[in-house]
Amino acid sequence: MYSEKVMDHFMNPRNVGEIENPSGVGTVGNAKCGDIMKIYLDIEDNIIKDVKFKTFGCGAAVATSSMATELVKGKTIQEAMKVTNKAVMEALDGLPPVKVHCSVLAEQALQAALWDYAQKNGIEIEGLTPPK
Ligand code: FES
Ligand code: FES
Repeated sequence: MYSEKVMDHFMNPRNVGEIENPSGVGTVGNAKCGDIMKIYLDIEDNIIKDVKFKTFGCGAAVATSSMATELVKGKTIQEAMKVTNKAVMEALDGLPPVKVHCSVLAEQALQAALWDYAQKNGIEIEGLTPPK
């Protein structure tokens, strides 16, 4: 049912934890299942130097967040904006349809963290909308 990549990121999730004094932090809840996701960003000169996540979500939420953090680490903010749940699912070789909503958590938390960063620094990030 799950791809090898999903199993790998579920069994050995990357970038779990939190960042002290993060540049931006985003917390979102999943409307569908009620699970929670938190993403911390450390941003310097427009580059995501470090990223960590914590979730009270299912295995698919762990795997998608792990992959999402890997995809944005070391990237520019503009590149990170392209890390949608679709991009994360592709990188994981797909998810079972019933688990697609779990991958949305990572994208939303990432964007909420970027929004927090933008607010704190009085900047605008193209394409970014306020968290719902
Ligand atoms: Fe949260 Fe599935 S409802 S783990
Ligand atoms: Fe809730 Fe997966 S079932 S995040």
